[in-house]
Amino acid sequence: MSQENIANSAKPNPGRMYDYLLGGHHNFEVDRVAAEQLKALAPFAAKAPKLQRWCLQDLAVELTEKRGYDIIIDFASGLPTQDHIHEAVPDGTTVIYSDYDPVTVEYACEILQGTPNVYFFQGDARHPEALLNRPEVQDILKDRRDVALVYWGVTAFFTDAELVSVAQYLHQWADPKSCWAFNAQLADVGLTDPGVVRATKLYEQMGSPLRLRTLEEYQTLTQPWRPDEKGFIPFMDWHGIDRSEMGEEDLRAFGVAGGGYGAYLTK
Ligand SMILES: C[S@@+](CC[C@H](N)C(=O)[O-])C[C@H]1O[C@@H](n2cnc3c(N)ncnc32)[C@H](O)[C@@H]1O
Repeated sequence: MSQENIANSAKPNPGRMYDYLLGGHHNFEVDRVAAEQLKALAPFAAKAPKLQRWCLQDLAVELTEKRGYDIIIDFASGLPTQDHIHEAVPDGTTVIYSDYDPVTVEYACEILQGTPNVYFFQGDARHPEALLNRPEVQDILKDRRDVALVYWGVTAFFTDAELVSVAQYLHQWADPKSCWAFNAQLADVGLTDPGVVRATKLYEQMGSPLRLRTLEEYQTLTQPWRPDEKGFIPFMDWHGIDRSEMGEEDLRAFGVAGGGYGAYLTK
């Protein structure tokens, strides 16, 4: 997303549109109008945030209860509302959220006030070093790097070069026991589907172009990270959605995976 429109209430912002589509209240009229336009043009694009958020909750449980991580660092978090990571993890888990949108950061700090072990900082996910090197974050981590890193619902906004540089930085930063919960956002969606074409145009007009990639492209760009034995899991399987419950139109647009894949990447 372009830096220029992130805190501008005169222009729709994809992060605030996303909040509106999830039923949140931290958005402006201009965002609601654009989100309604998106819903009309491409019904699937308006449903994608919900599935993405459900999958995010699944991973919060998996990372903590099944894989034993007690520190989660989440990049491009959006608002830490009730369905976000910190609500799904056991007490005592440290969650470090971040977002580059100053309005989101301000609201987020209000929402989280007094919540123990949960933090929210401003940071651009394309430059993870900026967040990881913050003195406050270093204070929290106390040299620990055996953590779970999360990039969820944002990678379609990165250029190839940005994604490569994030993957390489995190790989050299992370401890061998770390894990990178990675969302290959919108991978393998139906590129020729008219709804997808219209949604892509709308994001482009907002100054936040989407890069619609194949899963193979994502796998190449995130090397040398490798998925664990589960591989890249289609969103629908990740959350256990029965494909027969989806309409023809949604299936065509969402593509085979259901709007992307998730994976637990390892070193
Ligand atoms: C689609 S939401 C994703 C929220 C959450 N991760 C999820 O999956 O539910 C996108 C959020 O990412 C933020 N964002 C987009 N690009 C970013 C970047 N380069 N760095 C940090 N935040 C970014 C937006 O401000 C917005 O709040």
